[in-house]
Amino acid sequence: MRNKVLDVLKANKGQFISGENISEKLGISRTAVWKHVGKLREEGYIIESQTNGGYKLIESPDILSLSELEPFLRTSFIGRDIIFLDSISSTNTYAKKKAEESFREGTVIIADEQTEGKGRLGRQWISARGKGIWMSVMLKPDILPVDAPKLTIVAAIAVVRALWSCCQLKAGIKWPNDITVGNKKICGILTEMSAEADEIKYVIIGIGINTNVEIDDFGPEVSAAATSVSIETGRAITRKALTASVLYELEDMYEDFIIDGSIRPFLNEYKGKAAILGRNVKAISKKEEVTGLATDISEEGHLIVRLSDGTYREIVSGEISVRGLCGYI
Ligand code: BTN
Repeated sequence: MRNKVLDVLKANKGQFISGENISEKLGISRTAVWKHVGKLREEGYIIESQTNGGYKLIESPDILSLSELEPFLRTSFIGRDIIFLDSISSTNTYAKKKAEESFREGTVIIADEQTEGKGRLGRQWISARGKGIWMSVMLKPDILPVDAPKLTIVAAIAVVRALWSCCQLKAGIKWPNDITVGNKKICGILTEMSAEADEIKYVIIGIGINTNVEIDDFGPEVSAAATSVSIETGRAITRKALTASVLYELEDMYEDFIIDGSIRPFLNEYKGKAAILGRNVKAISKKEEVTGLATDISEEGHLIVRLSDGTYREIVSGEISVRGLCGYI
């Protein structure tokens, strides 16, 4: 009902509508209207009231609830079910629990704050309240489990596209999935999957975009290697618009990707944005550590490195550091 009260206020934005009028429209008492208005104010909506004059919506907060995101959404299924949480340990953890019960494909879990945000390789992901887009997209692609990690690449391109279309910010991708601006990380992606022999039960794509994070929020260890959209563009970012844009780009690419689980249609775009191609890198995987020149990305999404003896090595996963650049997370 609170959302219905909000809808009425939004339809009359900038002008007063009486409590009586709202109560008649929605079939609830004036006291109930007053209580819902109180709750909306707690959520950050600025609503003016006048004795006997009713209520006037002045401003909506930049929260990522369905009612705030809906006007921006251009997707058909991704983000059409949204669970917006004020504070949660990790949206990925929440999404995985939900996925074990049931979910509609494209459900998105968004939190204003994560208290135990997860990064790759067991690292922590700093997720300050209200200052970023901390979300997990729940998918059930009908592809082979072996192709699922490529979704990370799909998501990385989607974020880069959205940063450009929404914020005119040119970002690169540090293989496999760090989104960078000027050698600093602006977004991380954590893809988690549950599968049986040849069937995927679910894939969770966790996306963390530092939108309005300030340098002090990162803490001393991370601040040299991290940045945010507002730091790079010099202006505050509306999270709603950027979130909707990421979901739009993701859905657009996902629909092509699931045809055969291939990143072929996006490979050139990915390579064009790949910040490390042509650079000397050190690749650290569970198995080994190799140094050489990053020369290419394969159709499987693997990094090809030319070693000093002229042979090539295909890196499937791991951590990359670029020679001459320090401070990567
Ligand atoms: C990384 O670069 O190490 C991956 C970071 C992924 C962070 C996002 S924020 C939303 C989702 N929930 C999490 O706990 N992690 C991902």
